[in-house]
Amino acid sequence: MKKVGNHNSISRKLYLGLGLMLIFSLNSFAQTAVPAVAPAATPPAAVATQGGDAAKGKELFNANCAACHKLDAKATGPMLRGISAKHDMAWIYKWVHNSSDMIKSGDAAAVKVFEENNKSVMTAFPQLTEADINDIIAYTSEPKAEAPVAAGTASVPGTGGNDSSISNNVILGALALVMVMLVVMLFLVNNVLTKVAKANGIEVAPKTPTTPIWKAFARNQFLVLVTSIFLLLSGAYFVYGFLMQVGVDQDYEPIQPIHYSHRIHAGSNGISCKYCHSSARVSKNAGIPSLNVCMNCHKNISEVSDTTATPDHSKAFYDGEIQKLYTAVGWDQATQKYTGKTQPVKWVRIHNLPDFVYFNHSQHVTVAGIECQTCHGPVQTYEVQKQFAPLTMGWCINCHRKTEVKMEGNDYYTKIHEELSKKYGVDKLTAAQMGGLECGKCHY
Ligand code: HEC
Ligand code: HEC
Ligand code: HEC
Ligand code: HEC
Ligand code: HEC
Ligand code: HEC
Repeated sequence: MKKVGNHNSISRKLYLGLGLMLIFSLNSFAQTAVPAVAPAATPPAAVATQGGDAAKGKELFNANCAACHKLDAKATGPMLRGISAKHDMAWIYKWVHNSSDMIKSGDAAAVKVFEENNKSVMTAFPQLTEADINDIIAYTSEPKAEAPVAAGTASVPGTGGNDSSISNNVILGALALVMVMLVVMLFLVNNVLTKVAKANGIEVAPKTPTTPIWKAFARNQFLVLVTSIFLLLSGAYFVYGFLMQVGVDQDYEPIQPIHYSHRIHAGSNGISCKYCHSSARVSKNAGIPSLNVCMNCHKNISEVSDTTATPDHSKAFYDGEIQKLYTAVGWDQATQKYTGKTQPVKWVRIHNLPDFVYFNHSQHVTVAGIECQTCHGPVQTYEVQKQFAPLTMGWCINCHRKTEVKMEGNDYYTKIHEELSKKYGVDKLTAAQMGGLECGKCHY
C-alpha cells in the first residue's frame, strides 16, 4: 500500500517539475522571438518608397550637389535631409533639371524657395536622369547617422544590439532556473528513493567518515612549507609592484574640456609642435598655448573637412568641438566679431613632476637637441593626449647614462669638454659624465 503512495508522489513531483520547465522555456522563447522579428518588419520607410540606391546617391550628391548643399545645415542652398517630405518627386525632377525655368513659370513653391534663399541661382542638371535623382533623394532620406556611442559595440544594423543582449539575459536566466530545478529534482528523487528503500527494508549504507582534505594537508608539513613560501613570495611580488607604481601615471589620458586632437593638428595638418608650445625652446616649461593662438587659424576654420571624420568621431562631433572653442573665446561666427564674453578653458594637466624635481625643457630641446617625441611619444598620432613616459627618476637617469652630449657648435662646452674628456679618457661624453647624475642638478 505504502509503495503505491510513494510512486504517486514521485511521479507527481516529476510532472510538476517538467511542467514548470516547459512553461519557462516557452516563456524564454517567446521573449527572444519578439525583438528578432520586430525591427525587420519596419524598414526605413522613406528609402523604400523612393526605390533609389543611397550609396550611389551619395556619390552623385558629393559630385554635383555638395558644393552648395549640406545634409543637415544650410549652405549656399538649403539643407537637403528629408527634402522628399517637402516636395513630391515630380517637382524635384523638374527643379533639379532646371530650377530657373520653374521659377520663371511662376511655380509657387519654386518662387518661395528662391526668395527664401536670397534669390541665388541653382545650377541646372539636365544630364541627371530621374533614376539618378531617385538615388540622390534616397541618400538625403537616410536617417541622420548618430555619433558612434563607443568603439567596439558593433551591432548589425536592423537587429538592435540592446534587444539581443536582453534576450541573451533571458536565455541565461532560464538556463539557470532549469539547472536549479534539475538539482532540486535530483534531491527529491534521492529522498524518495531512500524512503522507498527503507520501506522495502533495504539497508542504506551509511557514509564512511574520511579525513577532510584540509586536515590531510595540515598534517603534511612539507606541503605546508612549500605553500607558505609560495604565498610569501607572490605576496611580496605584488606589494613591490604596487609600491613601485604609486605616483607613476604612465598612459594617463584624461578627458579634456575641448576634444583637441594632436593627430589632426600636428599629424594630418603638420603644424609644428613649437608653433603652439613655443616656450619649450626658451624656458623651463613647454606651456599650453593660449586660445588666441588657436584663433589665428580658427577664425576661418569653423568646421573640419569630410575626410577628417573617423568611425569613432563624426564630423558633427568635431565641428561641435570647434564651437566650444568659439564659446570659450566669445567669437560670434555670424558677425565674425568677438562678443567679449569669454569662458576660460581648463585644460587638465597631464605631465606633472613632483615639486622637488627640476626639469627644464629648453635644456633638453634646444641645448641637447632632443626631439619632443623621444619623451612624449608619437604625439602626432594621438587622438587624445596622454603621458607616454613613466617620468620616474630611473627614466631620467637611464637616458642621462646613455645619451651623448652634443658638443659641436656650442662654445659653452668647449672648455668643459676638454677638461672632462681628459678626466674620463673618452672622446664623447654622456649627460651622466657631465654631471647629469648629481642629485642637486635635479633636486632642489
Ligand atoms: C550652385 C549651387 C547649387 C548646386 C550645385 C545645387 N544646388 Fe540645389 N539649391 C541651390 C540653391 C541656392 C537653392 C535655393 C533655391 C534658389 O535660390 O534657387 C537650392 C534648392 C534646392 C532644392 C529645393 C530645396 C527646398 O528647401 O525646397 C532642392 C531639392 C535642391 N536644391 C536639390 C539639389 C540637388 C539634388 C543638387 C545636386 C544634383 C543641387 N541641388 C545642386 C543651390 C545649388
Ligand atoms: C595647434 C596647437 C598645438 C600643436 C601644434 C601641438 N600641441 Fe601639444 N597641446 C596643445 C593643447 C591645446 C594641449 C592641451 C590639451 C591636451 O592635453 O590635449 C596640448 C598638450 C600637450 C601635451 C600634454 C601637456 C600636459 O598637460 O602634460 C604634450 C606632451 C604635448 N601637447 C606635446 C606636443 C607635441 C610633441 C607636439 C608636436 C608633435 C604638439 N604638442 C603639438 C596644443 C598643441
Ligand atoms: C595652424 C592652424 C591651427 C591652429 C593654430 C589650431 N588649429 Fe584647430 N584645426 C586646424 C585645422 C586645419 C583643422 C581642421 C582639420 C581638418 O579639417 O581636417 C582644425 C580642427 C580643430 C578641431 C576639430 C578637430 C579636433 O581636433 O577635435 C578642434 C576642436 C580644434 N581644431 C581646436 C583647436 C584648438 C583648441 C586650438 C588651440 C590650442 C587650435 N585648434 C589651433 C588648424 C589649427
Ligand atoms: C627630455 C624629455 C623631454 C623632451 C625632449 C620634451 N619634454 Fe615635454 N615634458 C617632459 C617632462 C619631464 C615634463 C613634465 C614637466 C613638469 O611636470 O614639470 C614635460 C611636460 C610637457 C608639457 C606640459 C606643460 C609643461 O610645460 O609642463 C608640454 C606641453 C610638453 N612637455 C611639450 C613638449 C614639447 C612640445 C616638446 C618638444 C619641443 C617637449 N615637450 C620635449 C619631458 C620632455
Ligand atoms: C631622452 C633623454 C633624456 C631624458 C629622458 C632626460 N634627460 Fe635630462 N638631459 C639629457 C641630456 C642629453 C642632457 C645634457 C644637455 C646638455 O647638453 O646640457 C640632459 C641634461 C639635464 C640636466 C642638466 C645637467 C647638467 O649637468 O647641467 C638636468 C638637470 C636634467 N637633464 C634633468 C632631467 C630630468 C629631471 C629628467 C626626468 C624628468 C631628465 N633630465 C630626463 C637627456 C635626457
Ligand atoms: C636626472 C635627474 C635626477 C637625478 C640626477 C636624481 N634624481 Fe631623484 N628623482 C628624480 C625624479 C624625476 C624623481 C621623481 C620620481 C617620481 O615622481 O616617481 C625623483 C625622486 C627622488 C626621490 C623620491 C622618491 C619617490 O619615489 O618619491 C628621492 C628620495 C630621490 N629622488 C633622491 C635622489 C638622490 C639621493 C639623488 C642623487 C644620488 C637623486 N635623486 C638624483 C630625478 C633625479
